[in-house]
Amino acid sequence: MTTRHEPKIALGTWAWGDTPTGQVFGNYLTAADLKPVVDGAMAAGLTLWDTAYAYGSGESESKLGALLKDYPRDSYQLSTKFTPQMAAGDSDHEVADMLAGSLKRLNTDFIDIYWIHNPADVEKWTPQLIPLVKSGKIKRVGVSNHNLAQIKRANEILGEAGIQISAVQNHFSLLYRSSEEAGIIDYCREHDITFFAYMVLEQGLLSGRYDVDHPLPADSMRGNIYNAVLPQVSALTAGLREIGATQNASAAEVATAYAIAKGTTPIIGVTKAKYIPSEAKAMALNLSVTDIAKLEALAQAANVDTKGSWEAPMD
Ligand SMILES: NC(=O)c1ccc[n+]([C@@H]2O[C@H](COP(=O)([O-])OP(=O)(O)OC[C@H]3O[C@@H](n4cnc5c(N)ncnc54)[C@H](OP(=O)(O)O)[C@@H]3O)[C@@H](O)[C@H]2O)c1
Repeated sequence: MTTRHEPKIALGTWAWGDTPTGQVFGNYLTAADLKPVVDGAMAAGLTLWDTAYAYGSGESESKLGALLKDYPRDSYQLSTKFTPQMAAGDSDHEVADMLAGSLKRLNTDFIDIYWIHNPADVEKWTPQLIPLVKSGKIKRVGVSNHNLAQIKRANEILGEAGIQISAVQNHFSLLYRSSEEAGIIDYCREHDITFFAYMVLEQGLLSGRYDVDHPLPADSMRGNIYNAVLPQVSALTAGLREIGATQNASAAEVATAYAIAKGTTPIIGVTKAKYIPSEAKAMALNLSVTDIAKLEALAQAANVDTKGSWEAPMD
């Protein structure tokens, strides 16, 4: 087994890619808004940052790179992605080309974890990672949104060059457990692969901050998707709050602790400095078997399908 020194929670920056006109989250964030987020996180030891060229076509990477500029490179870890649908052409250096842009925007000469964002073409894109690992531009390789067969196939391709996948990044939350049901989380545990769970809070739906009277921003992609199901999840958010109250924790902290208890490393989308102590709190929470069973029953009763439009089923 490899011993990896990585935080129990990674921080996600998809929302940082929103521009005044391109609204996935509906809360446009400037560098001035985000500076206290980065400084607070770094001070709290939350040093693993997940981004992608796809988040605002480099907007998220640029903001992150600028805000981390004054920190020593060995004090934080960067995770960014190759998105096949954004490749400029069809050559054998598309991954290298997209990585080059990310390195520039992030002010660095290496990425700690580089991902193939989705399994658009495992045979075509996976081998392009090999020279990038060999040259040291990528320290660890990950695959995202891949099902078990695709993870195994990517590992086989890399294995021929003596490289192993060391991270998987899939959607996982109380409302979306497909990677657990498909055996992917178990497979990762058995093969020394860190399973990174994204959208653990379902973009705010499970944060406890939103309800029928206080919906998510209407003019955003997340509002369009999640506002319709707010009535269905109210019992679940009440359950999260109730369990949290016994440990002086919020609904968001309990939902995050749930993902940790299931053996994953959550990537929490961080938009406000006040959330940083909350991530630290989530890492320290203890959920009992009874708490977990109760939350899973409430989630099942909510009967909502939160599969992202970009995701394929995992089975
Ligand atoms: N590989 C992929 O295909 C993929 C897909 C999706 C996401 N991701 C990665 O995973 C990350 C996480 O996903 P996400 O950002 O979409 O959604 P998320 O983590 O489920 O939710 C983020 C939202 O939850 C709220 N929040 C965060 N911390 C909170 C706290 N402590 N207390 C209360 N509310 C809190 C914030 O809402 P407000 O801003 O409204 O306060 C924030 O915008 C992304 O940023 C990205 O890095 C990867």
